Amino acid sequence: MLGRLNHVAIAVPDLQAAMRLWRDVMDAEVKGPVDQPDHGVRVAFVELPNTRIELLEPLGADSPIANFLKRNPSGGIHHICVEVDDIHAARDRLKEQGIRILGDGEPKIGAHGLPVLFLHPKDLFGTLLELEESGEASKS
Ligand code: CO
Repeated sequence: MLGRLNHVAIAVPDLQAAMRLWRDVMDAEVKGPVDQPDHGVRVAFVELPNTRIELLEPLGADSPIANFLKRNPSGGIHHICVEVDDIHAARDRLKEQGIRILGDGEPKIGAHGLPVLFLHPKDLFGTLLELEESGEASKS
């Protein structure tokens, strides 16, 4: 069911400062920022050879990462994202296994224009896991 690690997401209080760190100090390729009002975040991506790091800054008053940053004012690892071939099949299988899906349980279009959903961290030993459809299912 699970495919590649797509990204690790870090919530940050200042996206421009985080982008400067990764671009200028860490000497990495950084893309963005992009506003994602549907998800309540502004996003930039640090491109690495085998994966990427997603930098997240709150966007709007009711951003889902606002509370996380209250608890972690200097930022921190927020979630990891793993690819799946078929997100509806993965969702149905996990629900049968008792894993809770956040929100209304329907995939939303994520940062890469592909469907994503989030699994409840309490059902995953404290880790917020994002699933992203890799696009392989829709190609075949
Ligand atoms: Co993500």
